[in-house]
Amino acid sequence: MKKFMRVLPTSLSCLRTTCGCELQNNEWASYKRCFHVSTLLRHDSEALKTRQSELMARGLPKKKSIPGVRDIVLVVSGKGGVGKSTTAVNLAAALATNKPSKIGLLDADVFGPSIPLMMNLGELNPELNRENLMIPLVNYGVKCMSMGFLVSETSAVIWRGLMVMKALEQLTRQVDWRDTDCLIVDTPPGTGDTLLSLVQTLPISGVIMVTTPEKLAVQVARRGATMLQKLGIPIIGIISNMSSVACDNCHTELPIFGRETEKLSSDLGVPVLANIPLTYDEDEASPKPVVVAKPDTPRAQRYREIAKKVEEFLIEPHKYQLGFLVVKEGQ
Ligand SMILES: Nc1ncnc2c1ncn2[C@@H]1O[C@H](COP(=O)(O)OP(=O)(O)OP(=O)(O)O)[C@@H](O)[C@H]1O
Ligand SMILES: [Mg+2]
Repeated sequence: MKKFMRVLPTSLSCLRTTCGCELQNNEWASYKRCFHVSTLLRHDSEALKTRQSELMARGLPKKKSIPGVRDIVLVVSGKGGVGKSTTAVNLAAALATNKPSKIGLLDADVFGPSIPLMMNLGELNPELNRENLMIPLVNYGVKCMSMGFLVSETSAVIWRGLMVMKALEQLTRQVDWRDTDCLIVDTPPGTGDTLLSLVQTLPISGVIMVTTPEKLAVQVARRGATMLQKLGIPIIGIISNMSSVACDNCHTELPIFGRETEKLSSDLGVPVLANIPLTYDEDEASPKPVVVAKPDTPRAQRYREIAKKVEEFLIEPHKYQLGFLVVKEGQ
């Protein structure tokens, strides 16, 4: 075999070894066999590659819309505890003030659902309709669905990736979402299985990135945003939550962190939708979205402004983002 490796295959009719001897008949036959086999292998490896890429493409989940839902908006963050669920409930409630029963809120945080408590729907369970679809529970004009409605408050959900995907499939497609203009999806923190599975299986209209404005949180948010942009998912904008402390009486806002969110916004080319102050919530036992509980506060006003911007984006996504870029260039 070593000898064949040294053969100069300039022409099949005249083969010589590197030292110039003509090949013996039996060697010549073996070489031809080897040549034939290697050609077949090369051919096979190309066919194999084509076949593999076909299978890969087939293996990737196809994006399928949710029956009855027009737009899907994800609320995403890098770090945990930065205010995604708070943003999701307030945004949904703000959108629903103009369009009651046309707004849905899906809690995709399968391991730590907070929507039941935040929407004051804690003890209730969804019923099934005639088509065996779960009927979302409604409060403040928002149709809600959460894993928290299906497992008891004290049970821990101990699942691996595939089961989480199955649960998400049920929360999206086994629910009667008909007549929903916009479905707001509250996600768990980070860019793990849940977020990937949502962006790969659903047609996402846009994402709202929530972060607190300190360096560490923004750094993690940047990673998530970059991943989403690479996947071609539009980012509607960033919400800088707990960016200042607001006085309950005079509403003066004192900034408590730096200006990292603005830097992120300009690097990504997406707007900061709002800076939300940190405000004291005296009714922690039965929380209500601030847009419902205290509609006249500056914080509630900011959520309404975010809702307006989201509506504008959903009507004309390109114009909305272009508008932002033009404003930035002119600065
Ligand atoms: N602007 C704010 N002012 C005061 N409290 C806030 C504000 N935003 C959020 N909070 C509070 O901070 C806590 C965390 O918020 P929230 O649950 O919305 O974060 P999260 O990002 O959804 O967390 P997780 O990653 O665990 O899902 C909650 O108790 C919420 O009430
Ligand atoms: Mg949450």
